[in-house]
Amino acid sequence: MLILFFLHRFLASFYVKESYAESKTSKLLIATGISPKPCKTSIGDYVNLQSFLNKLQYSELKGYESEFNAIQVDREMNGPWNKVALIKKLLKERQNEWIMWVDSDALIVNMSFDIPFDRYVGYNLVIWGLDDLLYKKGDPFNGINTGVFLIRNCDWSREFIELIDSFGKKDGRIKEDLLEKYLNKYLWGLFEQNAFCYVLKNYEIYKNKTFLETTYDLNGFWKQAFHKLEWNPFILHFAGCQFCSGSNNSLDVCLEKWNYFNRKANETYEAIKI
Ligand SMILES: *[C@@H]1O[C@H](CO)[C@@H](O)[C@H](O)[C@H]1NC(C)=O
Ligand SMILES: *[C@@H]1O[C@H](CO)[C@@H](O)[C@H](O)[C@H]1NC(C)=O
Ligand SMILES: *[C@@H]1O[C@H](CO)[C@@H](O)[C@H](O)[C@H]1NC(C)=O
Ligand SMILES: *[C@@H]1O[C@H](CO)[C@@H](O)[C@H](O)[C@H]1NC(C)=O
Repeated sequence: MLILFFLHRFLASFYVKESYAESKTSKLLIATGISPKPCKTSIGDYVNLQSFLNKLQYSELKGYESEFNAIQVDREMNGPWNKVALIKKLLKERQNEWIMWVDSDALIVNMSFDIPFDRYVGYNLVIWGLDDLLYKKGDPFNGINTGVFLIRNCDWSREFIELIDSFGKKDGRIKEDLLEKYLNKYLWGLFEQNAFCYVLKNYEIYKNKTFLETTYDLNGFWKQAFHKLEWNPFILHFAGCQFCSGSNNSLDVCLEKWNYFNRKANETYEAIKI
């Protein structure tokens, strides 16, 4: 009996969400995702779960919908490329005006922050980046970061993501060569960030509707937390920590800061939720 009761409640919760989504499409859809493969570290699942809760809390506060992905969307698109395949799918299927991608190793720290959408009229992609390094030097590591970005749900974006996507396909050999030649700094592999850099630098049609946001921390780098103690970024990105894959040896330093900011995020959530 008890089991049936919980099963009913469980199914009802989906039904309610489903009908809510049908009746009301929020302005923003927050999308995040974890690797479809099991974590190699003992803390990976813990961090991933906290990360999901963090996005869920912010979405709930602001009335946004959210999408949590844990599957390989396109079998040809491995690792970080899976994000591109997911965004491509969401741009086809969803009706939200904007989609915000947030990597699973990034935390929304300031839960009361409102994204200044008014500023982005006429722009279709909003991402942290440095004009000079991105457009003049074409530096895919210091000039741009794809850990967090906002993309408008429109044809421009579908075409942009299609182009980015074409670099990630295994059969996209020619374009890989092109990218490798173009990117003299080809350090950790060819990822979607390299393709973003390449496309934005070389296609005026994409560059001129891209807003490089540096006026607030849309994608703050976690290491800066060592210098700015009372810092309250909107989003803090633990880039390089590799909580799940474990291919980094400074996990303990990373985890200490992660826990600190996750507590801070949770406290602000608890303080302002109704
Ligand atoms: C969080 O963001 C809001 C809205 O931009 C801002 O007013 C507030 O000062 C921020 N909170 C902190 C602790 O920085
Ligand atoms: C953006 O670039 C496209 C392609 O080069 C061009 O047709 C268009 O006029 C540009 N728009 C602006 C606002 O510069
Ligand atoms: C490990 O993480 C640290 C801190 O972010 C970074 O400086 C270093 O480059 C990373 N190493 C690798 C192999 O990713
Ligand atoms: C978040 O805060 C609430 C209330 O203080 C607490 O019960 C909960 O354990 C916290 N969660 C995390 C992940 O810190």
